[in-house]
Order: sequence, then structure tokens, then C-alpha cells
Amino acid sequence: MKIAICGKGGVGKTTISGILCRVLGKKGIEVLAIDGDPNPNLSHVLGLSSGPPPSLPLSSKVLEKGEDENGNRYIRLGIPLSELISDYGIKAKDKITLLAVGAPEHASSGCMCSSHTTVREIINAALASKETVTVLDMEASMEHMKRGTSRYVDIMLMVVEPYFRSMEAAGRFAKLAKEMGIKTVAAIANKVRNPEELKAIHQYCAHINLPVMAVIPFDPNITVADSTGASIVDRVPDSEAVLQIQSLADQLIMETAG
Ligand SMILES: Nc1ncnc2c1ncn2[C@@H]1O[C@H](COP(=O)(O)OP(=O)(O)OP(=O)(O)O)[C@@H](O)[C@H]1O
Ligand SMILES: [Mg+2]
Repeated sequence: MKIAICGKGGVGKTTISGILCRVLGKKGIEVLAIDGDPNPNLSHVLGLSSGPPPSLPLSSKVLEKGEDENGNRYIRLGIPLSELISDYGIKAKDKITLLAVGAPEHASSGCMCSSHTTVREIINAALASKETVTVLDMEASMEHMKRGTSRYVDIMLMVVEPYFRSMEAAGRFAKLAKEMGIKTVAAIANKVRNPEELKAIHQYCAHINLPVMAVIPFDPNITVADSTGASIVDRVPDSEAVLQIQSLADQLIMETAG
């Protein structure tokens, strides 16, 4: 199961990715959490209290540059994924391993390519592995999607806040995701404060034929947890946001099993 979480800036992608990883992990599922944001911050939501995770070095150890038989240049992961994970993955709670690829630092030597290419190749390699359940917290831009990073993803969830620009952005992501042939494309309504807001999201999503798979209320517990750099899953495990994401996880498991 490869899940990508996307949407406009600030809608709650990282929050939801982190909680989803934790609830999947609590079910005994080993999860690879990929922070694909150039400004990585998934670690806090995963309950890791120390500073930002070390970035992957852009060295020739990790990436390999070459030319195929047709003369096309390529850059790909130069080491097995398992080695990448054991060398650079960070163990978090609930059987989660975090890989922060969003902001690889340009090593002083051996740097071969642009940050986006590197991120794409590493994410592709991680997603291409068959055995892992992967949750990818995407950056707000559509860059990765346009460049095809998402071709290994089987579930793409658009986080939508109840305001028009966010819904419109989700619509654009959803269109692209469907064009790319991603099997399950759905919305998650987030920060919903009242029935009118929920209605607005439902109406927009119905209009663009995008199913709403979860509704997460605006939850002050998230704000409090965030202000201390903690995870809501640890602070208020029975909060409505966590319960809704538990139910989303159950749906996703059923979806991919069926
Ligand atoms: N359901 C919610 N209730 C209350 N606050 C929320 C909720 N979901 C997210 N937030 C808050 O919204 C803010 C943005 O969340 P988050 O960082 O997860 O968004 P993002 O989409 O990952 O942002 P970015 O585009 O910058 O990566 C944070 O302050 C977070 O605490
Ligand atoms: Mg984020």
C-alpha cells in the first residue's frame, strides 16, 4: 500500500500523514514514512522529539549517474533501498521508519544533480519496493506529481480545507492523479468547524467527482500538540481527529485488500 498525501500549503498534509502512520503502526503494520517536503517536519508529528532528521546526502554513494543503451542520461538510486533505509532511516514509534528526502544537502563533493531530481529518484525507489506500506507526505507544489514521482502510488489523498482555493487546488491534484492512473484518488476534509463548511467541501468534491474519504474536524488538541512539538497521538489518543484517521486507515486497508 503506497499512500501519497497532497494538497495546498498548510492544509494539514503533514499532520494527517503523521497520524496515519501512527495509527497504521499501532495495528502492527510496518510503515515507511517519507518526508518529501523540502522543509521537513514530519518527525514531530511522528512523536520524534529531537531536532529535524538528518537529510540524505547527495553523494555518489546514494545516487548513480549513467547513460542507457539509447544514450539517455539517468540518475538513480545507487544502493539497495534496504541499505538506504538502514543507513538513513530513523526509527520512530509504532514500527515506523522515517526517511527525510525532501531537503538533501548538497555534499561538498560528489553532488550530481538538482534537488528535485534526487528527491524524485529516492522517492521512486522507496515507492517501487513491493513489501513496504509507505506514506508519502508531499510538498505543496505539484512538482513531484508532474515529474511522475507518483506513478508507484496506489492511493492519493487530497487534503482539503473548507475554503475555495484549497478545494480548487485539490481539484487540480485530483485531475492529475486520475490522469496518471492512480487507483484510488479521494479527498480528506480537514479543519472542518461546522456543517456549512462540510457541505461546501461535499458540494465541491461531488462536482469534480472526488469521493470524500474522511472528515477531520478542526481540533484544538492538534494545535496544542503542535505548539509543543508533540504528537496528538501521544497527547490525546482518543481525540476526534485521531479517531477519524483510524477509521480512514481501516478503509484504506480494506480498499487495498479488495
Ligand atoms: N484538524 C486540524 N485541526 C486543527 N489544526 C490543524 C488540523 N490539521 C492541521 N492543523 C494545523 O494546521 C497547520 C498546518 O498543518 P500541516 O503542517 O500539517 O500542514 P501542511 O499541509 O503539511 O503544510 P505545508 O504545506 O507547509 O507542508 C498546523 O499548525 C497544524 O497544527
Ligand atoms: Mg507539510
